[in-house]
Amino acid sequence: MAQVHTNQSLKSIFGITLMAAALGLTACSTATDPDVKARQDSMKSYGDAMGVMGDMMKAPDTFDAAVFKEQAAFLAEDAATPWSHFENKEAVGNATDAVWSNADGFRAEAENFQKVTAELNAAAQTATSIDDVKPAFGEVGASCKSCHTDFKVKTD
Ligand code: HEC
Repeated sequence: MAQVHTNQSLKSIFGITLMAAALGLTACSTATDPDVKARQDSMKSYGDAMGVMGDMMKAPDTFDAAVFKEQAAFLAEDAATPWSHFENKEAVGNATDAVWSNADGFRAEAENFQKVTAELNAAAQTATSIDDVKPAFGEVGASCKSCHTDFKVKTD
């Protein structure tokens, strides 16, 4: 009798865990809130742009000035866009509480991001090799990372 009871408890605990995992996945992959979706879409495209430029960093002989310029310009032009989509506290997404509890810190990170992407864009305009954009690219990468450390939930 006791044995059966234990088994059932374990089964239901297991069931609940699976359920939670399934719900968690759903919440992650389908952002229904328009603000969360808009800022995640921006962030995803930042990831793509950084990937294109990062590949050239890894293989300097593949440097393509026109393509690099395009990606850098995109980042600089979009750099002010995501932040207005963080106004609603209920739209949490994968943002940490710090976005709202440390709003000044978050704003500082967002402003720094706009500064370093403008600098990368400026450097890209006249770049003839990867070396011309390397330091500015490094600053942009550091800015993504620095903001994510405090303000983005670790999803990896
Ligand atoms: C000022 C802060 C800040 C900066 C700067 C920033 N991010 Fe983010 N990023 C966030 C936050 C907060 C989230 C979580 C958003 C959410 O889920 O609501 C996020 C989420 C993401 C995601 C996941 C998007 C998704 O589909 O859920 C990617 C990818 C990403 N960022 C890439 C980047 C890259 C690349 C850069 C730099 C070029 C960057 N971010 C700069 C704050 C920032």
